[in-house]
Amino acid sequence: MIEKSLFRICENLSEFLEASPQDLFSMLEFPPDSSKGDRALPCFRFAKAMKKSPQDLASACKSILVRQELPLGIDRIETAGGYCNIYLKSSFVAKEVLEPLFSSPETYGHLIRDKAPVAVIEFSSPNIAKPFSIGHLRSTNIGASLSRIFQARGWKVIKINHLGDWGTQFGKLIAAYRRWGSADQLGEDPIRALFKLYVKFHEEEDKDATLLQEARENFAKLEKKDEEARELWQWFRDLTLKELKTLYDKLSIGFDYYWGESFYMDQIPDLIKTLQEKNLAQESEGALIVDLKDEGNGVALLRKGDESSLYLTRDLAAAIYRHQQFSFDQMLYIVGGEQQLHFKQLFSILKKLGQDWSDRCEHINFGQISFGDERMSTRKGNVVFLSDVLSRAKEMAQNIVREKNPELENIEDVAEQVSLGAVLFADLSARRAKSVKFSWEDILSFDGETGPYLQYAFVRTRSLLERYGKKPEMIEDFSQFQAPEEVELLRTLSQFSYALERAEKEREPFVVGQYLIEVTKRFNRFYQAVRILDTEAQQLKGRILLVFAASKVLESGMKLLGIPRPEKM
Ligand code: ARG
Repeated sequence: MIEKSLFRICENLSEFLEASPQDLFSMLEFPPDSSKGDRALPCFRFAKAMKKSPQDLASACKSILVRQELPLGIDRIETAGGYCNIYLKSSFVAKEVLEPLFSSPETYGHLIRDKAPVAVIEFSSPNIAKPFSIGHLRSTNIGASLSRIFQARGWKVIKINHLGDWGTQFGKLIAAYRRWGSADQLGEDPIRALFKLYVKFHEEEDKDATLLQEARENFAKLEKKDEEARELWQWFRDLTLKELKTLYDKLSIGFDYYWGESFYMDQIPDLIKTLQEKNLAQESEGALIVDLKDEGNGVALLRKGDESSLYLTRDLAAAIYRHQQFSFDQMLYIVGGEQQLHFKQLFSILKKLGQDWSDRCEHINFGQISFGDERMSTRKGNVVFLSDVLSRAKEMAQNIVREKNPELENIEDVAEQVSLGAVLFADLSARRAKSVKFSWEDILSFDGETGPYLQYAFVRTRSLLERYGKKPEMIEDFSQFQAPEEVELLRTLSQFSYALERAEKEREPFVVGQYLIEVTKRFNRFYQAVRILDTEAQQLKGRILLVFAASKVLESGMKLLGIPRPEKM
């Protein structure tokens, strides 16, 4: 409805500004604060062609609009600078927010489409027998959030975990295991134990030349499906996957397919043949390459001299296979920025292969984050294990929660929820491409822009509703919200769908995070400024409904970002 009225305004200005209503509609901005209206049409773009100043144009727009009755729900039009500002009636905003939130709170702000487009989203993709790094946490968190946001925006989403379960490192691991390993060692903490073997391999390889040779042979055997090598590999993979699934459960994340790199093995020979037939790949010093230098993407290596397949080749096979299976409208790879060249090469070779859908593939990159001053690199062994980060966070959260609310019954569970909320939200608190360093104090703070800050506001809404003791009811008089804090809160709640739309378009869960911070700020101001439970009946009914609305939007947004929602804290 708001849309309809705003579109009418654009129709009314279309002739004068010589632009289609659709164009004008897409130009509408959200002013930074409500004193400048609910939407603003910037007139700068038209100034040159129409030989008028933006200010004059804005005034002219206003006169055109006020000449006739304003569309439903529009209160008034003002101009400021080169902007034509549109003010909505607050009773209209209240109705637009409260009715749908009351009748279908779970899908408020979501987009329902007639036909769902298909998105393949590949994320997490850790490596077998190696620690789950902070980079993998970012991929997991951003990918899972984007998947949920895309679903809320009406997409059908297929989630794939492209496990790093193939490559020469498995030859090394098998060699190391045969020399130094034992089944006992892998019992309790298999990933850590396997990783230790891997690190030991790198320490020893300089001293002992036969090691590398052995590793190479092992991997060659694996590729040729040698039974013994394959059995060890399968065992390492199973052990790692079991541990990974515990983590995904903790984060409430599921995948539709665990198609790791090994899954595509049998498709590689045909792929290589096609590449050669199409004259895309050339032999060079025994290796097979694609020269992409003229487009600035270097030389892509498809097969090494020893015939073993490579990361890029497996990605080519994976992309083609996924397209055959799902004929997706969009495929997103959630992978760190350091693999940018890899994805450029991948997409470019797909295009050269005549796969015209290659421009529907996107590398959704992200920067590095760190907690404190620890940095990550798996090769040398000075890595930060995610499990360590999470237990450290939990320990700190436990102290904070105990201090704030010593009577709380299930401190341990709440601390777990708070610590996850803190870490996951911190990860989404800046645009993904940015590299950020966090301090524990900052991300666990209850009044910064943090996960616990959102959780605390959510708990507050729940406790108000609990103390009210009845089910919230629908109201009839939407003009009862007069306090500025009520109006502002309603206005913010009305913008949920736009936040989701932007997050989808920009592939930035961060946008939803920022929006939730805004909701929380508005809610807290409302909570501090107006009486809620101790006010007269009519007002009480309206305000409780507003608390319910804020609670539902917070809940729904936090769900999208995977932030746990404690009932008490
Ligand atoms: N396993 C890789 C790593 O840990 C990430 C895989 C990214 N996805 C892909 N299709 N290449 O670096």
